[in-house]
Amino acid sequence: MDSARDGIFAGDDPFEIARTWMSEAARTEPTDPNAMALATVDPEGMPNVRVVLLKEIEADAVVFYTNYDSAKGRELIASGKAAINLHWKTLGRQVRMRGPVVKEDGPQADAYYRSRAVGSRIGAWASEQSRPLASRAALMERVETLGAELGDDPARPSFWGGFRLCPLEIEFWADGEFRLHDRFRWSRPSADTGWKIQRLNP
Ligand SMILES: Cc1cc2nc3c(=O)[nH]c(=O)nc-3n(C[C@H](O)[C@H](O)[C@H](O)COP(=O)(O)O)c2cc1C
Repeated sequence: MDSARDGIFAGDDPFEIARTWMSEAARTEPTDPNAMALATVDPEGMPNVRVVLLKEIEADAVVFYTNYDSAKGRELIASGKAAINLHWKTLGRQVRMRGPVVKEDGPQADAYYRSRAVGSRIGAWASEQSRPLASRAALMERVETLGAELGDDPARPSFWGGFRLCPLEIEFWADGEFRLHDRFRWSRPSADTGWKIQRLNP
């Protein structure tokens, strides 16, 4: 089969293709086109997965935000690796990426935090994400106390910020008739080398 990439798979920059697919999904998905499954492993090698929002597709990486002390935060910091999967049912497409992750806890994280609604900013302070919670009322009490303490322009907590995934592998997948889907895998041994592109069997 011809391995030429044309149509939606065309281009020399996988991040540009991902951005184009995301903007198409933004027009067709009813909610959260940037919702993605984020996979991690715990120290025993047990996989873990949950949905987070993809916030930035950069020139050579993607960024999402979370609590560094959450289960995922601790797993990402310990392993230094992650995999993500964006699935758009309305387009019949998915994008997978995996590779090393590093914290984004500088000015970019501050700016993103500042762009959020004050309620969400207080929420980030109030939630000891992934740890046991006695009751919903206890959480709401914390929200109220911290809201009064922090005022209407709270600074980003040091335990909350971004992670930047710099993929060594990206796969673009599109639904095909009779499950004969199209798949192209872009891979590179390190972030400073060029991409190898292969068409894969469905
Ligand atoms: C649509 C959707 C978007 C979400 N976005 C985020 C997010 O951007 N960051 C985040 O920390 N949790 C987000 N969550 C909650 C996570 O799925 C998860 O419950 C939480 O982060 C705790 O995960 P953990 O215990 O594995 O760390 C989102 C959940 C859904 C369903």
